[in-house]
Amino acid sequence: MPTITVTTRTGDTRQIAAEDDISLMEAIRDSGIDELLALCGGCLSCATCHVYVDPAFADQLPGMSDDENDLLDSSIARGPLSRLSCQIPLREELDGLIVTIAPED
Ligand code: FES
Repeated sequence: MPTITVTTRTGDTRQIAAEDDISLMEAIRDSGIDELLALCGGCLSCATCHVYVDPAFADQLPGMSDDENDLLDSSIARGPLSRLSCQIPLREELDGLIVTIAPED
């Protein structure tokens, strides 16, 4: 059960205990943090699950697909550590992952 640290848009930091084999988006949403809209439910068509990943974990995440890359290009808030949280499956190896919810477009 990986523990994830999430910083919200207001700067609050919360630790959440996530189940294995769900996405980072689902873990954040299920924790009650409601600012991560995830409007498409993880179908890779909205980019409202945009987060910034702590650089220490960037190399541990699965590679970015062309579709994720294209969708992130639609966000004015895209940065070098941007990922769509619905595309990050949680595994025990990601215990301690630190992310920040990106600003709303
Ligand atoms: S929830 Fe829509 S792209 Fe991730």
